[in-house]
Amino acid sequence: MCTSTCCVPGSSSIRTSSSEVTASPEAYDTIECDVLVVGAGGAGMRAAIAAAEAGCRVTVVTKSLLGKAHTVMAEGGIAAGIGNLDPEDSWEVHFADTMLGGQLVNNWRMVELYAHEVIDRVLELERWGGIFDRTDDGLIMQRAFGAHSWRRLAHVGDRTGLELIRTCQDKMVHTEGVDVCMEYTLTCLLKSGDRVCGAFGYNRNTGRFVAFKAGAVVLASGGWGRMYRYTSNSWECSGDGATMAYQAGADLLDMEFMQFHPTGMIWPPGARGILVTEAVRGEGGLLFNAEGSRFMLDYDPVKKELSSRDVVARSIYKEVQAGRGTPHGGAYLDVRHLGADYVKRKLPSMYEQFHALASVDITSQPMEVGPTIHYTMGGIRVEPETAATTVPGLYAAGEAAGGLHGANRLGGNSLGDILVFGRRAGDAAAEFAKTVGTVRVIDDAQIATEQADLLRPLDGDGNGSAGENPYKLHEDLQLAMQDDAGIGRSEESLQRALAAILAIRERTAGIRVSGGRVLNPGWHTCRDVTNMLVISEAIVRGAIERRESRGSQWRFDHLEQEVEFGKINFVTRRGGDGMQVVSVPITPMPDRLRPLLERSRFYDPAKLPKGYMTETAPDAGTTGKKK
Ligand code: FUM
Repeated sequence: MCTSTCCVPGSSSIRTSSSEVTASPEAYDTIECDVLVVGAGGAGMRAAIAAAEAGCRVTVVTKSLLGKAHTVMAEGGIAAGIGNLDPEDSWEVHFADTMLGGQLVNNWRMVELYAHEVIDRVLELERWGGIFDRTDDGLIMQRAFGAHSWRRLAHVGDRTGLELIRTCQDKMVHTEGVDVCMEYTLTCLLKSGDRVCGAFGYNRNTGRFVAFKAGAVVLASGGWGRMYRYTSNSWECSGDGATMAYQAGADLLDMEFMQFHPTGMIWPPGARGILVTEAVRGEGGLLFNAEGSRFMLDYDPVKKELSSRDVVARSIYKEVQAGRGTPHGGAYLDVRHLGADYVKRKLPSMYEQFHALASVDITSQPMEVGPTIHYTMGGIRVEPETAATTVPGLYAAGEAAGGLHGANRLGGNSLGDILVFGRRAGDAAAEFAKTVGTVRVIDDAQIATEQADLLRPLDGDGNGSAGENPYKLHEDLQLAMQDDAGIGRSEESLQRALAAILAIRERTAGIRVSGGRVLNPGWHTCRDVTNMLVISEAIVRGAIERRESRGSQWRFDHLEQEVEFGKINFVTRRGGDGMQVVSVPITPMPDRLRPLLERSRFYDPAKLPKGYMTETAPDAGTTGKKK
């Protein structure tokens, strides 16, 4: 088992582990399984359930505690074209909305699979005991959300992510063959030849090293927002999974697309960045500037407050820049007209959150809100059917993976994503694991190198004063990313951000912390920061290469969309001499899907995203700068 205090066994027997001491590496524990799942959010748990149901022994590893995953930050609902309230809705309309919202650089096959299957996944969740708000007829209630043609989000109040986690957790711990190791940080993937055969890391409480041997690995480790100063992301979101995948040779996709959710809290300072769910606008909340003007009528007269997130976030930003912001630099979000009873019933968490954190009663006072980093559209490049990465034995699902959402994700599509592709990843990883079996011997040289790297910050005089402070490096990175790779970017600002990232990376060589390996958050932060630096570099290099504005990528120096950029994705991979960004052509959308775009209520042939109609795409080629 993992260790006595932080391993939660499922109904299956507890795995044995051995303590190994070899000549070069320090002692480490080993845990064996068929499928290793990294992350215990919705994607990880759904993958674990699928792999275990396929007959595999599964170990789920989480940095945090089971039930505390960041999935809870998708509050407003699961988008699925069930059509309980609006019978005009269907998977086809959902497909069209998602593609148009993503500005047509999404992987259309992923979107097709997703829009089809998410309906079944929601109904499955209901069968597993998921609680949903109900219509008078007892059907699952669905609400409006930004840029969805119809009322589509299956929800329970404003706590849908929490309910999804609760339901999957209940299902998973009652599924034969799943063990959970809590409070472990994984730091690298283990390889046997070309293929991934496990992962290495340490127990966050004891500091003891551990190697997980597995036939296949699913990365369901979520996104990365902690390199920004203002974010709705929780502390775990430092991009560990994507960094490990990159280091192991996997491709990352479209890393420049970082989503600013339009509505985060902006006051008081300690609450800045915390999510104010889109469900507030879905239920009828209105946005006003400091002059009392409902400005979304000007920016998007059709969708108004329920425009796509990229548009609403930019609109708030523009209002503030124009001097029409609220006292703390945002907009007012108002639900007073909905009535106190309705607000407390449909938005209980928001009512409590503003009351507890800002002493604001949202039934009688407007909320002050502004954009906050919320989601990463980019991620590990996967094959749509199986969620296989470009490295054998490695799979990725949920926010860690890229491709589904294109340049901008529609709200509610993340909870659906994790169910659909978590299941697909678990199925495919199980199949792979059965064919290869577990590797018995792991490369101790790789482990020794990794241990040395992990232990380096603990060298020195023991008081932490001799070197760089990891918290200071993190703070410096956050300032650089927030200021220069934020909601709006330019060549100049991005080059500044890149220079800052590279300079901070140099400083990590001297990173030092006091204390030892037991319960040492400073030590944990060392690896978090180095991971965030890798991901930040990928974000910035991708943003430099995409010389256009599209979805969440808003370039002050390239305000228009460019046809050629609508025909490519950017892939980031590790080259011999540093990080490379290359363009790869998007496979043109097939004729069977192309007409579906017209099914969106927001389809306007005059305003289609540029690039997609062309049948041919440019050859792949290296366009990025090397280190
Ligand atoms: O605003 C929200 O409730 C977030 C939902 C999502 O990101 O899907």
